[in-house]
Amino acid sequence: MNREDFLMYNQDIIYLDSGATTLKPKILADTLSDYYNHYSANAHRGDYDISLKVDTLFEKTRYLVSNFINANTNEVAFTNNATDSLSKIVWGFFEDYLQEGDEVLLTKAEHASNVLPWFELAKRKGIVVHYIPLDEHLKVTIENVEKAITSRTKVISLAHVTNVVGDERPMKEITKIAHERDILVVCDGAQSVPHMKIDVKDLDVDFMAFSAHKMCGPTGLGVLYGKEKYLKQFRPLIVGGGMNSSFEFDGTVIYNDIPHYFEAGTPNIAGVIGFGAVLEYLEHLGMERIHQYEKELRKYAITKLKDVPNIILYNEESEAGIITFNIRDIFSQDLAIYLNKYHICVRAGNHCAKILKDELGIKNTCRVSLYFYNTKEEIDALVEALQNPKIKDEII
Ligand code: ALA
Repeated sequence: MNREDFLMYNQDIIYLDSGATTLKPKILADTLSDYYNHYSANAHRGDYDISLKVDTLFEKTRYLVSNFINANTNEVAFTNNATDSLSKIVWGFFEDYLQEGDEVLLTKAEHASNVLPWFELAKRKGIVVHYIPLDEHLKVTIENVEKAITSRTKVISLAHVTNVVGDERPMKEITKIAHERDILVVCDGAQSVPHMKIDVKDLDVDFMAFSAHKMCGPTGLGVLYGKEKYLKQFRPLIVGGGMNSSFEFDGTVIYNDIPHYFEAGTPNIAGVIGFGAVLEYLEHLGMERIHQYEKELRKYAITKLKDVPNIILYNEESEAGIITFNIRDIFSQDLAIYLNKYHICVRAGNHCAKILKDELGIKNTCRVSLYFYNTKEEIDALVEALQNPKIKDEII
């Protein structure tokens, strides 16, 4: 879909690494360039036309984000990326909320950004990290969530869609059983928000994090969503201009209300305005249409890849456009380098999900991650390269 919107396709490239970051449509660079060339004033600080224009467009993006995920506008704060949002949720809220001995439930398939902040909190506060066991398809089942919950469980923190297994977690059911037991739910939406229609009210998650760059937007920009009642309890994390309304010599400070409370200093203005243009672009394409297209492409890819000699597919049963595999007796990074000879971009390694090796029984894999601009012809080219009878000779 819409490949003509991506100037990257003016070169010979088969980009199958959108889980790492997506390609950017021309509208993004055009919008950034327009800001930098024609109205590059600061936000929320000026009383002249170009500054007021910045304010309007900056807040328009917040409105577009809130619409995109069905949040209230004051529940959407801009951060640097999903990692930044997740760390802020842990330090800004949970460090005070949790007591020694309280338990947080993760899985071994989580990305580092949703594991390491909890590990740090375990060191600092004595909270306890437990893992919901994954089933034979590396998925989270409600039954296993229920079994993992104890009377000390206070938080369940999960990726909505994982970045290696590509499984979609039943977040709505998970929040239901969590809230019945006064457990809060943190959702890492980095791999779901770009690919499907998300409704935070329907999912009823308490917090959600995602990055703009994984959904055609700029790098260095993320979103922290939280329910208003929780965002209002955050301790100030980054303090400075833009997030206070007054302070006195004696240390008296009045902070701004959410969401500006989270946005100290000059923000990523160009990025936020560019992200607004991208959100309109995605809405125009239709998130439901994108989701359906990716599902169809995934199905096609799995069917074709299954016939590749010596392939090991790790996530045949998953839902998202993420396919993780190895070719027997070939090191995953060697395979990625081999594919690069055919201008095919895939990611190899542990994909920042370093404890997934305990479940997979292997540390390194190759990962194909799809987006709406990919085609069946590109999958065919990947399959052809993998079917090369001389593949091992070309690698050695
Ligand atoms: N989390 C990103 C990925 O999965 C970087 O590649």
